[in-house]
Amino acid sequence: MVIGELVEETQVLVIGGGPGGYVAAFKAADLGLRTTLVDNNELLGGVCLREGCIPSKALLHVAHLIHSAEDAAVFGVTFKKPEIDVAKVREWKNGVVSKLCKGINTLAGKRNVRVLQGNATFEDSRNVRVEGGGVTRLKFKHAIIASGSSAKRLPESVIPADCCVDSTGALDLEDIPKRLCVIGGGYIGLELGQVYAGFGSSVTVIEALDGICSGADPDLVRVLQARLKKQFEAILTGASIEGAKKSGKGVEITLTVKGKKQTLTFDRVLASVGRQPNTAGLGLENTKVKVNERGFIEIDSQMRTAEKRIFAIGDVAGDPMLAHKASHEGIVAAEVIAGHDAVFDKKAIPAVVYTSPEIAWCGVTEAEAKSQGLAVKVGKFPWGASGRAIAMGRPDGLTKVIADAETRRILGVGIVGEHAGDLIAEAVLAIEMGCEADDLALTVHPHPSTSETLMEAAEGVFGKSLHVAK
Ligand code: NAI
Repeated sequence: MVIGELVEETQVLVIGGGPGGYVAAFKAADLGLRTTLVDNNELLGGVCLREGCIPSKALLHVAHLIHSAEDAAVFGVTFKKPEIDVAKVREWKNGVVSKLCKGINTLAGKRNVRVLQGNATFEDSRNVRVEGGGVTRLKFKHAIIASGSSAKRLPESVIPADCCVDSTGALDLEDIPKRLCVIGGGYIGLELGQVYAGFGSSVTVIEALDGICSGADPDLVRVLQARLKKQFEAILTGASIEGAKKSGKGVEITLTVKGKKQTLTFDRVLASVGRQPNTAGLGLENTKVKVNERGFIEIDSQMRTAEKRIFAIGDVAGDPMLAHKASHEGIVAAEVIAGHDAVFDKKAIPAVVYTSPEIAWCGVTEAEAKSQGLAVKVGKFPWGASGRAIAMGRPDGLTKVIADAETRRILGVGIVGEHAGDLIAEAVLAIEMGCEADDLALTVHPHPSTSETLMEAAEGVFGKSLHVAK
């Protein structure tokens, strides 16, 4: 031991305090294990709470409110153009984040989870060095890596770093740019694009693929796209960016869209082209932990890495990079360490894009069913036939149920519409419980509610939906 070193021992070391790491630490502590959580940020919660899911939802709430006020003109209610106090919106959003993060720190304290602030690096399979905290070295029995992911950067030759911000920069809400360019039409680009459009920016989305939101079925995406078309300046798909430079007018982006070269000028550029796992600096080379060709830590169904004392969960351990997946993996890792025979064997993990309308899906998509050659039957229910959706003035929605043609088991569900992200939970449960489409169809759903669209789509799988024309 080096003189002046402060060494501690712990049964479970968790690296990273996001929704994967803090949940794993809480579960381990609840199972009676002495647990230490190391995070380089003072506030627990990770990217999700501090600069991801939560602040974006706070801002989306404000943007949706503004758009809903505009929509009210159809009902004969008109509001004046909103005055937006950007500093106050920012303060409110920061307050939401701070409240939740402090709550996590309080919960950690109440469970006697030891929280250390600093960067942890493996020295070997029993010890980590902690930089920045009071404790310099931790000896652990088991470790759980939950170091998350960070925004992918476009090559400097394509977009110089000083020409664009990532989602963290966009969520800071420094001001409202007149012309915003969003590179990448995925989760972050569409959500933040809608935030800034709500605040009055003219938003242009540049997407390399032929369509936006490529993980979801195109018929669901079309419904969202129809609304975005009215709110955004342009959605350029099949676009390839050749370069960007700053000029007196702003940031000039040169791109080719379907063979046609053009230069567009913006006041701000948001790059949201995916995320990559955070493994650098962890000292994994000092352990037997293996990283695959995509940079993710390799794990088995119990979250165990190639080093049997070390587990990995969440974004650093593979797709989908979603907070709720990380939390459930964290629970499994903690239980396995506590000696339980737990495995991560979820049949469905919901994905939600929190735009308005929201897109949510779980299980297999129709496109995946097709590419996998699965024999399926698909029931669809358009929200234009839903009393509740019409009464809300938001008939722009579609619910679809994908079932095995023979066993009638539900294999996947996709929904686009207001609060689709809340509705999808029923579908996830149905898939986990091995429900047949008939189970969903025979379940009494409250009327009038948009949840009825699930029942109707399930009836539609076998051509029995009563509220659509035969
Ligand atoms: P994403 O993977 O959802 O979308 C990135 C998009 O950028 C893709 O459509 C891709 O084709 C496009 N792209 C890549 N390179 C490009 C280029 N050079 N030019 C133009 N387009 C390009 O990634 P995103 O939006 O950055 O989000 C990252 C992750 O964060 C998601 O995968 C998700 O795990 C998580 N997230 C989840 C949210 C949620 O659950 N609601 C919200 C925000 C983020």
